[in-house]
Amino acid sequence: MCGRLRVVTWVVRHENFGDDVLTGRERCGASRVSGGPGGAQGALSDRHGGSILGSVTSDLGGPDLTGDRIEVRSSGPLDGTLVVPGAKNSVLKLMAAALLCDGTTRLTNVPRIADVDIMGDLLAHIGLRVSRPSPDRVELTNDGNITPEAPYRLVERIRASINVLGPLLGRYGRVVLSMPGGDDFGSRPIDMHIEGLRMMGAEFKFAHGELTAAADRLRGARIVFDYPSVGATENIVMAAVTAEGDTVIDGAAREPEVVDLCRLLVSMGGDISGIGTAELRIRGVGRDDLRPAEHHTVSDRIQAATYIASVAVSGGQLTMLDARADDMEMFVRRCRDMGIDISAGTAMLGDREVPSMSVTSTGRLRAVDVQTLPYPGVATDYKPLIVTMLSVADGVGVVTENLYPGRFRYVEELMRLGADITTTGHHAAVRGRPRLSGAPVRAHDIRAGAAMVVAGLAAEGTTTITGVHHIDRGYDDLTGRLAGVGADIVRRHG
Ligand code: EPU
Repeated sequence: MCGRLRVVTWVVRHENFGDDVLTGRERCGASRVSGGPGGAQGALSDRHGGSILGSVTSDLGGPDLTGDRIEVRSSGPLDGTLVVPGAKNSVLKLMAAALLCDGTTRLTNVPRIADVDIMGDLLAHIGLRVSRPSPDRVELTNDGNITPEAPYRLVERIRASINVLGPLLGRYGRVVLSMPGGDDFGSRPIDMHIEGLRMMGAEFKFAHGELTAAADRLRGARIVFDYPSVGATENIVMAAVTAEGDTVIDGAAREPEVVDLCRLLVSMGGDISGIGTAELRIRGVGRDDLRPAEHHTVSDRIQAATYIASVAVSGGQLTMLDARADDMEMFVRRCRDMGIDISAGTAMLGDREVPSMSVTSTGRLRAVDVQTLPYPGVATDYKPLIVTMLSVADGVGVVTENLYPGRFRYVEELMRLGADITTTGHHAAVRGRPRLSGAPVRAHDIRAGAAMVVAGLAAEGTTTITGVHHIDRGYDDLTGRLAGVGADIVRRHG
């Protein structure tokens, strides 16, 4: 496999490893881009004020603003039904797409997570009116009163703020964007976003931590990604829908959340073909030709995987409504290899027929080897869950991380719970134990935090998780949903 040049460089420099998976890119030598928590109902935005959709409880990598903790104990078999909420990594981009047309974009199946609040604040600062008429709906009204500037105090809190770059540049011709920060699991550059937009005629300047981009009118271009970046694909698509002429993205990301964004853009009047494939073709329409639409956010495959992992280590049976097995095929395959019984079907949720999944586990798992890859491979965001499941599986499993070289920090926390894990470079060898042993642990990022909750379900005694604000960024009532199916879990307010 041809991995990322930047990843290779990082790994060679800092991790002293040099083997199979990531070496290809060095030999390829190609450039990556080339020519060829719950919102207050009815809250209204104010342009420069506080949180728009509810109280913001999140701060990327910062201090724990809530002081809350989650206490979880091994619970015996889980049993019941839960509804999987909408996807964080979709809804944040859908919200940004409201910049592309005048009028009110209406989003449903919006998860109650802190990142939605933060994105709402950012878009309100830029000039949208943002409201939450009911808990799972967000409305974003664009009156054309836009100031295309995204300041550091908002951008630093959420990586997805980079997704305002494409729509603002495409429609308004100018953006001043503070550079987004990294994550606890490593540096996350935006060079592919910039190169792609440059090829469409944008000019960039960088000074004092701010990126200034300008383009009288973006022009369609053929953009070849040598790695299917999710965020860069989304930014280029949003820039291209109102650019002059045709844009082709060769090597586009195919994640279900990218597909969801493309579907919204098509409902708004965008002309996009090849949706869900590695070659996206976008025929630009006039800058003011898109119209607002109503859109149902795709359900969250990572939250669904978290509930699968929970029942996997606890044993029992779970029915998940609005869970899309097709969007998580490789993860489901690996879970079946581990001995988890998973079937897919449909069910009624109110008056809607929705995809559903039924998951059964004895609580005993078999070890498997897994590597993370772009979609349709096993997503990096599942990895902390997989490592946690392997910690209590029979045998040894090797997990290989191909996207974020630094994404193993939660391993130290799992080891505090008695997990037997050895990391070498981007590999983790996990030797399963019959049970973990509860202890205080910290959530270092969203997915690592959810993995600590799953680990607590597999541990004797009490596991107390701090850094809960990270979990709040991406999980809609994880504690309540797990308690609802029989888990011994409680959130204590700090
Ligand atoms: N990359 C570059 N240059 C770029 C863009 C990306 O080097 O210009 C590198 C990144 O540093 C990383 C890799 O490419 O090593 C993957 O980046 P990608 O652009 O695909 O990811 P992203 O858009 O930044 C989204 C999700 C992540 C998820 C990844 C991969 C959102 C808001 N975030 O990030 O989700 O891990 O795709 O699937 O959509 C999470 O939800 O916890 C999370 C981190």
